[in-house]
Amino acid sequence: MNVPYFDLPAQIRSLRPELDAAIARTLDSCAFCLGPEVAQFERDFGAYVGAAHCVGFNSGTSALHVAMRVLDIGPGDEVVTTPFTFVATSWAIAYVGAKPVFVDIDDGTMNMDPALLEKAITTRTKAVMPVHLYGQPFELDPILEICRRRGIPLVEDAAQSHGAAYKGRAVGSFGEMSAFSFYPGKNLGACGEGGALLTSNTAYAKRAVALREHGSTVRYYHDEVGYNYRMEGIQGAVLNVKLKHLSAWNSARRRTAHRYHKLLAQTPLQLPVEAPNCESVYHLYVVRHPKRDKLKEHLQARSIGSALHYPLPLHLQKCFAGLGHKPGDFPVCEKAAKGCLSLPIYPELTDSQVEYVAAAICDFKEW
Ligand SMILES: Cc1ncc(COP(=O)(O)O)c(C=O)c1O
Repeated sequence: MNVPYFDLPAQIRSLRPELDAAIARTLDSCAFCLGPEVAQFERDFGAYVGAAHCVGFNSGTSALHVAMRVLDIGPGDEVVTTPFTFVATSWAIAYVGAKPVFVDIDDGTMNMDPALLEKAITTRTKAVMPVHLYGQPFELDPILEICRRRGIPLVEDAAQSHGAAYKGRAVGSFGEMSAFSFYPGKNLGACGEGGALLTSNTAYAKRAVALREHGSTVRYYHDEVGYNYRMEGIQGAVLNVKLKHLSAWNSARRRTAHRYHKLLAQTPLQLPVEAPNCESVYHLYVVRHPKRDKLKEHLQARSIGSALHYPLPLHLQKCFAGLGHKPGDFPVCEKAAKGCLSLPIYPELTDSQVEYVAAAICDFKEW
């Protein structure tokens, strides 16, 4: 048996007639930059998340960047975030000339540890930006309580968590703003790049719309320095097709995760935990063990794909050498980086493939 780490071709095959029709509609209308398909998607995805405004972007990175601009964050300011995430979370902070201030993660959830947040806040803190990592909501109540008490806006990096819920409410609707990515491999992915900024603050939404379009609200008049960050019409059309399947896909991922939990319970692996009040959508299923490199090879030899998310925490990346961090600064995160291994998880994965992966892991003798 062959179990690819991810099987996007299978998803595209299953939707091919719908996608062909959606792309053909856009070719006919020639609405390539924004346009009616993007507007439709913005309405529907905003309603899905429960935010008053959804602004379509050309990537999640762009949406996060604009969230920083909307909050007028700039040089001399600090934004508190997690060191255990995809680097784009911190790009948004770096792009506006601000400083990322890292807070270590919780060993169980691998999300920002709320108990450590307050110590990282200074008079220069202009936002707190945790990540709903791997599809699992971060602990919203304690983080929101600190943000509200200290008067600091919360920006949710929800790039990996389309449809994840905290106390029954979708993530992306809690902070002043949130950002999603529609990179093709995400739970909801475009056929190319895409992203969105969500907010229930009308003034923030208006500013995000202007910044996305060269800093202008009236064509050829530019009130501030902006960007070409528009979502493409074809991506809006594709996302309209795929959004209809998102809930079913998330349920299938949750079902696979629960099968893995059961089948791997007796192994020495540290399995993902779903924190109380949190409904994860399992963008990734990440197990941990110090021998993960050996385990990865063992799986590869049995035609099972796996991946590392993420092998090097942000505070130890070369690009942030200027921050002066050293190994040991965020020990929980560093341990997670050394032990993490992402197993195949996607809606098209069959029960027998899941069983094959689990059996291969149970066969591993070099713990
Ligand atoms: C946590 C996180 N933040 C931000 C991004 C950036 O999104 P994009 O790739 O759409 O720019 C991603 C995805 O790649 C991500 O996983």
